[in-house]
Amino acid sequence: MSVIDEVKQRLDIVEVIGAYVPLAKAGRNFRAICPFHSEKNPSFYVYPERQSWHCFGACSTGGDVFSFVMKKEGLDFGETLRLLASRVGVTVPSRREPEAGKDERERLYQANAAAAQYFHDRLLNSPAGKKARSYLGGRGIQAETTRDFQLGYSQNSWEGLKKYLTEQGYTEVELGTAGLTIEGEGGGTHDRFRNKLMFPIFDGRGRVTGFGARVLDDSLPKYINSPQTPVFDKSGTLYGINLAATAIRREDMAIIVEGFLDVITAHQNGFSNVIASMGTAITEKQVAILKKLSRNLTLALDADAAGEEAMLRCVDYENTLDAEIKVVILPKGRDPDDVIKEDAKQWSALLAKALPVVDYTIDSVTAGLDLATAMGKSATVNRLLPIIARMKDATRQDHYLNKLARLTGTSYNRLEAALSKLRDTRQKKGGTRPEDVSQATRPVVANPREEYCLTLLLQHPELKKNYQGLKPEYFEDTENRVIFTAWQEARDIASLKESLDPTIHGRIDYLTAKTIPPNQIERKLADCINQLHKYHLRNLKEKRAESMELDEQDIKDNEQLREVFAQERHIRSGQKEAAR
Ligand code: UTP
Ligand code: MN
Repeated sequence: MSVIDEVKQRLDIVEVIGAYVPLAKAGRNFRAICPFHSEKNPSFYVYPERQSWHCFGACSTGGDVFSFVMKKEGLDFGETLRLLASRVGVTVPSRREPEAGKDERERLYQANAAAAQYFHDRLLNSPAGKKARSYLGGRGIQAETTRDFQLGYSQNSWEGLKKYLTEQGYTEVELGTAGLTIEGEGGGTHDRFRNKLMFPIFDGRGRVTGFGARVLDDSLPKYINSPQTPVFDKSGTLYGINLAATAIRREDMAIIVEGFLDVITAHQNGFSNVIASMGTAITEKQVAILKKLSRNLTLALDADAAGEEAMLRCVDYENTLDAEIKVVILPKGRDPDDVIKEDAKQWSALLAKALPVVDYTIDSVTAGLDLATAMGKSATVNRLLPIIARMKDATRQDHYLNKLARLTGTSYNRLEAALSKLRDTRQKKGGTRPEDVSQATRPVVANPREEYCLTLLLQHPELKKNYQGLKPEYFEDTENRVIFTAWQEARDIASLKESLDPTIHGRIDYLTAKTIPPNQIERKLADCINQLHKYHLRNLKEKRAESMELDEQDIKDNEQLREVFAQERHIRSGQKEAAR
């Protein structure tokens, strides 16, 4: 049984809701003044047999015990689950760490930390480390910085690190899994990093997740990194985050650069809110990490990293952040490391001139085109409209549509029409295949109709363009409801999971693993929505009928009820007074 089901089973909805509002018995059910809107006559009902609630008044909404507490406490699903679980003595795995494999990962962090120390010590103290020391010196990196970033040197030996760590009790398998060793041709393993300048990569909690390694000369490849491991995921890594988090929060701004040495030089010169995206375009995972520190991001890119494709993705991130991303384009052939070293003021000046990503993109697209010609106008619209189409913020979208209309002398209405068309076709594409199933868990109290519907939606991204009529409240089960709501916003299964509490991942795995024959999918969905709708209405009707057994007259006749409601009204008006 999943923890969610376990918590649900141990809770009694009457007890939980009764702790928030005085409930009066009304036939088989309970009645109250709705805690969510102000009303004189009670239209809020709790149904013990169904373990659900409903407000027939202004809210006209309802759900199970989770949705009640979510709404009342203003918490998300995961927070609600933890709150309720603690009341019934159920332990919920913490948000970030799935329980499975936790010890293994802990070992890998420790092996990495020991490796980082070893490399750092070799850099500072070994004779062979001298060339790495002088390389760092040549690049202007000071001793204090070397220490802050725990830079290191991996010796030119096949088994130096391997011997050191196996003596400390790490197994060959562990070292392989951590990416510290690699299989050789003969079948044995040896050190992955040899004769390199080592950059340990820390996560936000100061754990070493992996390494970047640079050659000490002009040979290629210039950098190698740790492979993907249970603790290292390049796409979710921000180099320098351990040292930058405080400054990012304080300055309410993160500056994202491309390289390790760009970060290091920036920090050495007092620009402490700088991190690197590991040499790749910034990813959704990275944005999600940064969003917790600040919504304001500035990308410092060289011109070829700022292609239109990359900019297109930025608009999605802006939607996630609900803020504008800015961009600074570096002078040709130079990176932040060069710029800062030459003149820190020049770097500050560049940052001050950062442009909103969309304005930058418009500038760079139009720079190459002749806007006086029909072809130039058409190309401008074709290239910029897809970017504008992705914006969720209607005001910003309007702003840029106007800008595009002005630039090309096209009518606003024509552009807007083209934009809607584009939106439709875009929703047809996109989406991914269901992910591998690892820990599929079946809910105890299955709700087959709801599950069938979600399975269709999760497995067929193309349905996103048309699931008309389907509303969150058709899902009685809060877990399903939360998945549906998040699905409407998510781009694919991975981002859906990312946006949801890990306790829900099991349900998603279960749903994506179900098999539904892939024919007539749209029909199936339409039928299913129809059924859910009917069921929802019937359910409501039954609840209403049950509730109305006790009508206004009964309330008047019922001493106990009247008293409870009068008290409640009294308390509330008192609270209102107090709030003034
Ligand atoms: P650059 O080639 O711009 O290197 O790559 P850099 O940071 O300026 O390096 P220095 O200044 O010559 O030492 C930027 C980033 O791209 C990744 C690294 O993260 C690097 O910091 N990269 C680059 C790789 O992963 N592999 C490579 O072969 C090259
Ligand atoms: Mn560089």
